[in-house]
Amino acid sequence: MARILSVPFLLTLLAALASADNSCLSAVSWGDPRVDVFGRAPDNSVWHKFYTGYDWQPEKFERIPSQAASCPSVSSWGYGRLDILWIDESSGNVLHKYFDGGNWGPSWEDNINLGGEVESVQTLSWGKNRLDIVGNADNGTYLHKAWTGTDYYPTGELWEDLGGNFSSVPYIASWGPNRLDIVGVSAETDSLWHKYWEGTTWSEWEDLGGGPFVGTPVATSWGSERLDLWAVDKQGILNHKFWDGFQWNGWAQLGGKFSQTPQVVHWSKGKIDIVGKNANGRFYLKSFDGDNWNPSVDGWWVLSGPYSSEPRLITKTEGLNFLYLFGIDIDNIARMQIWSGYEWQPSAEETWPLGDVSKPYPNKKSSSFASKGQKSLPSATEL
Ligand SMILES: *[C@@H]1O[C@H](CO)[C@@H](O)[C@H](O)[C@H]1NC(C)=O
Ligand SMILES: *[C@@H]1O[C@H](CO)[C@@H](O)[C@H](O)[C@H]1NC(C)=O
Repeated sequence: MARILSVPFLLTLLAALASADNSCLSAVSWGDPRVDVFGRAPDNSVWHKFYTGYDWQPEKFERIPSQAASCPSVSSWGYGRLDILWIDESSGNVLHKYFDGGNWGPSWEDNINLGGEVESVQTLSWGKNRLDIVGNADNGTYLHKAWTGTDYYPTGELWEDLGGNFSSVPYIASWGPNRLDIVGVSAETDSLWHKYWEGTTWSEWEDLGGGPFVGTPVATSWGSERLDLWAVDKQGILNHKFWDGFQWNGWAQLGGKFSQTPQVVHWSKGKIDIVGKNANGRFYLKSFDGDNWNPSVDGWWVLSGPYSSEPRLITKTEGLNFLYLFGIDIDNIARMQIWSGYEWQPSAEETWPLGDVSKPYPNKKSSSFASKGQKSLPSATEL
């Protein structure tokens, strides 16, 4: 069944594919009220802006000296800590930069070179002074590296080969100390495969079925012994499977029309909030309150849009029903909405603009980051 595509259509498609990765963002909160947002600008530099509790700093996005070939991935293992990793455009190496609460390490200009075997990079922290990093090699295998508190494992530019043959990039999650779960879409079966680390050894890869899936699958957890897996099938429907501590449940179909797996967060045990970018470019929301899916098993609420980026959804702090939702719109403006616990602000379909991420604002130095932003931070207990 051959379909003939027109040249203008193909050019539009190629342009969209080429620019797609520019329009990405990562967000993390190291503790209330702080939020850090990073992305890759059209000139491939990594941009950064953060919320102090009073305002967003710097007023214009700061540019970390970088030429990134991938979206930056960011995580935090505690108050004041940020870890940012991306793939360097010229060398293909994974670069690691961190913020220790006072300074950028190893320096504002320099990064730690973790080697160049991966085509994507994602980072996660399950505890203080711990960082786990996954990526995929060009032959379809997944690779892993960790910061164990005193050094990288494996050391230097080496990576641990986790095997497998995948068409998607890996996604890493953890339900607690010393536990890792990695999922991907198999290049051979188009179903979801899973591998875990339980403190001493890696499991074998297990085929959890489902699919055929597209995009990058997502794994999340609301607590010990619980794992939720999310993947979008070829019809664009969100599929869900979970480990309840005893057995696997699902796959269940939750509706939607997505090309990439939505973002999923748990602000508390038993709670699930999901935001995805629907085929019309708008963000759509669905929640699980512990008993029921709202608005329904396959229904979704419409939020703001249209966006060019996928959504980024983070919780303010554990145990509080407060969400931050970020996206980059079709004019390169980063936008934010918050769920205050009982309503969307400024409203379900409106957002606050955080500025144009495509404008080149070269930063020689990390201007207001350490000084102004840090000192004005109230501690969590003052709020
Ligand atoms: C795939 O690539 C990785 C990293 O470059 C390498 O360690 C591994 O041996 C390769 N696997 C195969 C089957 O070629
Ligand atoms: C991975 O799967 C693809 C698709 O089935 C296949 O063409 C390729 O040879 C596989 N690669 C390896 C290293 O087995």
